Amino acid sequence: MTRTTSTVASPRVVSIEDLRPIARLRIPKPVFDYLDGGAEGEVTLRENCRIFNDVTFRPRHAVALSECGLCTTVLGCKLSLPLMLAPVGYSRMMHPGGEVVASRAAGRAGIGYILSTISGHKLEDVRAASKGPVFYQLYLMGGRGAAEGAIERARSAGFNALVVTIDTPVSGIRERDYRNGLKELISGSLFEKLPYIGQMLSRPGWLIDYLLDGGLPGLPNVIIPGKGQMPLVDINAALAESAVTWADLRWIREAWKGPFVVKGVLTGDDALRSIDEGAAAVSVSNHGGRQLDGVPAALRALPEVVEAVKGRVEVLMDGGIRRGTDVVKAISMGARAVLCGRAYAYGLAAAGEAGVDRAIEILRVDLERTLRLLGCPSVADLDRSYVNVPRSWDAA
Ligand SMILES: Cc1cc2nc3c(=O)[nH]c(=O)nc-3n(C[C@H](O)[C@H](O)[C@H](O)COP(=O)(O)O)c2cc1C
Repeated sequence: MTRTTSTVASPRVVSIEDLRPIARLRIPKPVFDYLDGGAEGEVTLRENCRIFNDVTFRPRHAVALSECGLCTTVLGCKLSLPLMLAPVGYSRMMHPGGEVVASRAAGRAGIGYILSTISGHKLEDVRAASKGPVFYQLYLMGGRGAAEGAIERARSAGFNALVVTIDTPVSGIRERDYRNGLKELISGSLFEKLPYIGQMLSRPGWLIDYLLDGGLPGLPNVIIPGKGQMPLVDINAALAESAVTWADLRWIREAWKGPFVVKGVLTGDDALRSIDEGAAAVSVSNHGGRQLDGVPAALRALPEVVEAVKGRVEVLMDGGIRRGTDVVKAISMGARAVLCGRAYAYGLAAAGEAGVDRAIEILRVDLERTLRLLGCPSVADLDRSYVNVPRSWDAA
């Protein structure tokens, strides 16, 4: 057992918040801030977590529960918990195992994994690592030609669904990344890296792992026809050139021909438009507060979307999930399942695969305890009668 593995296994690691400082100690500041930070003043980032306090529980006490049902399905895929690991770009920078070990940990726990386009591992290796459902999150970086190749590979590799993220017409400005020189450190020349490099030297253990891994290998799932694999150029510029539109969604639907989720929906109108374009599910999401600062917390936007779709498609939600109580509140308010990003990424950064295992286990134990305290036999039984939601949230 390595030192970081034993640290995350310690009985003192009780909550996701306990994984965060361990991650901070293991990885350099630019990488930690990339993971932890949000856009501009980080108002939406903070609000994503804070807003869960506005919803309170209505427990049913003195109820005998022999078993607690935690299973559900998303797009027909069985999940042992109503939880999936959200797409997290550059996971390989947090730990060399990156997307492969996160996917394996998810599969072992019986939950789903969503692979980001901005992955340092080949999608085939990530799919093969998991015995559970794996979805592929598609950006149109490199144009439709590159996307077509990725869609074809995802289909052959056996991905269960696509996730199309629509809230990234340009990248949000994550100020911490600029101050830390993240772009220069990832893709700059040695001269451009120099002012920032001291921050990396302060975490020699991480640096050795990173260098032995060969640094970041570019984007092996973005193969541009006639040009080859997309190098680690300025990802922000690449995203800006490849904003997803509704017309692209129509094209993706034709090319994929399988179920897809539209991620980044915050209004009833966008949810309805997603259904019109063939989505089988929507994820109510503000990208973890990393895009437009000042949009509502994801949980706050959930009632409007649930009301608009009226059960026609599955509604997922992500943003601010740190505890089992958060999962239960979101499901009670109509989400079929939630995605978590930072919750498992802290674990990945802290201790690789063991850290992801620990994050999932924390959420599983939390979730079961919350259902028992609530007097609810299973996640399938959760509904609005178990929570007090502020009245103003339901106003049109
Ligand atoms: C470091 C990091 C990288 C991310 N990269 C992507 C990405 O490549 N594609 C995407 O659709 N969402 C991405 N997201 C957003 C997550 O999928 C998810 O919406 C968000 O993390 C949910 O908020 P949470 O971190 O509070 O759980 C990223 C989030 C983080 C923290």
